[in-house]
Amino acid sequence: MRDVVIHPIDVLLKKRDGEELSTAEIEFVVGAVVRGNAREDSGETAGAVGETISDAQIGAFLMAVFERGLSLRELGDLTRAMRFSGETFDASVLETFTLDKHSTGGVGDKSSLLIAPVWAAAGMDGGSSVSVPMISGRSLGHTGGTLDKLETIPGFDSQLSLARMGEVLRECHAALVGQTPRLVPADRILYGMRDHTGTVESPFLICASIMSKKLAEDLRGLVLDVKVGSGAFMPTLERSKFLAELMVSTGESAGTKTVALLTAMDEPLGRFSGNWVEVWECVDIMQGRRHSMSADLIELSNALSGWGLFLAGRAESPEDGTALADEILRSGAAYAAWLRIVAAQGGDTSVFEDPAAFHKPKAMRVLRASRDGFLAGMDCKEIGWAVQRLGAGRARPGDPVSAHAGIESHAKIGDRVEAGQALFTLFSEDEALLEEPYRMLGGTVRIADHRPERQSLLREVVKAG
Ligand code: URA
Repeated sequence: MRDVVIHPIDVLLKKRDGEELSTAEIEFVVGAVVRGNAREDSGETAGAVGETISDAQIGAFLMAVFERGLSLRELGDLTRAMRFSGETFDASVLETFTLDKHSTGGVGDKSSLLIAPVWAAAGMDGGSSVSVPMISGRSLGHTGGTLDKLETIPGFDSQLSLARMGEVLRECHAALVGQTPRLVPADRILYGMRDHTGTVESPFLICASIMSKKLAEDLRGLVLDVKVGSGAFMPTLERSKFLAELMVSTGESAGTKTVALLTAMDEPLGRFSGNWVEVWECVDIMQGRRHSMSADLIELSNALSGWGLFLAGRAESPEDGTALADEILRSGAAYAAWLRIVAAQGGDTSVFEDPAAFHKPKAMRVLRASRDGFLAGMDCKEIGWAVQRLGAGRARPGDPVSAHAGIESHAKIGDRVEAGQALFTLFSEDEALLEEPYRMLGGTVRIADHRPERQSLLREVVKAG
């Protein structure tokens, strides 16, 4: 029997007109995207009709999906085709419950740096085993990236091959690595196209992008942290919840136990936002020092860890898991796991002996309260951009980031503040970079006469069924 030839224009027209695409059509599009890119890389010219797709057609396909959406079946097919578009991690050799978390992105959100060691410690204590093949990203827009934070540790190597990642996992029960060019290449290409075609915000495309990368880790359990609030990518609770439902459904259909927590992102999480300063905050917590400004970070991290321990069968309920996570943090077991992971990836652990001493910004400025009152709110996205512009983020892909740029928060929404009291300390490696972020922070912080109603950090849980 002759293979049916699929033409990109037919697929586009079908999606443009709101029809459902077949599995073969979706596989064709993803395959052609990756083949076209490989051909460009090798300098080859286009092949026969039906094998290739032009950049214009990819853009039109993305816009058609943006406008028309996807059925759950189509979304599952797109995610699967992207997941298997390159190398994948094979966790079967580990014989453990592979577990990871993913956050849709926040400001000061360093919870991965606590959760991975907590789960690794749970994986090493002799009970049913857990391992964490955590593939993280760099800063994106106004949000920070776990890799940029980890790479402030001298010597730390995040660019491990999948084979080396397997060895670190066997030894330490967690590996903290970056995406390689061969892992989910379809996402790398499509993400770049989305950026240029105004299609980044499609919940279907976000879901396929995130879930293809996470499922390529061969996970048995996945805990998603979907942010809600002024610092979140999704502007409303309704849209965040819709994205969470898509991701949970896609994960479960792929055989991965998946849960999503909708959590507040109305102000920077914890005490510090930046790169090294966020590592420092986590090291303090793992060494048993709990600064009052870190309370929300610890609450979030324990809740996400707790769900993971529950999915892995290490706790009877998510609440028991939360208590167990806190115990693992307090006992020093998470810190011991952290030291093992960092050392296995070439990092110099001596910097953790005095993390404050390693923080060497060249310039600092303090933003103070203009009057007495209560800290009533702020645009958290603006705060994120201010942190990036202090030097913690990059203006162009591939730019270096500053290890020591960032901010320290001195008050949380709802706190009583007095005129002249420090609200934020700004750090930079360049005095000239302080002015604009200082103005941005000053312009977004609101102080009111009455205490605003306290909002809970954990808004909702989205799970299967
Ligand atoms: N993070 C991703 O990896 N992909 C998206 O589309 C959005 C956030």
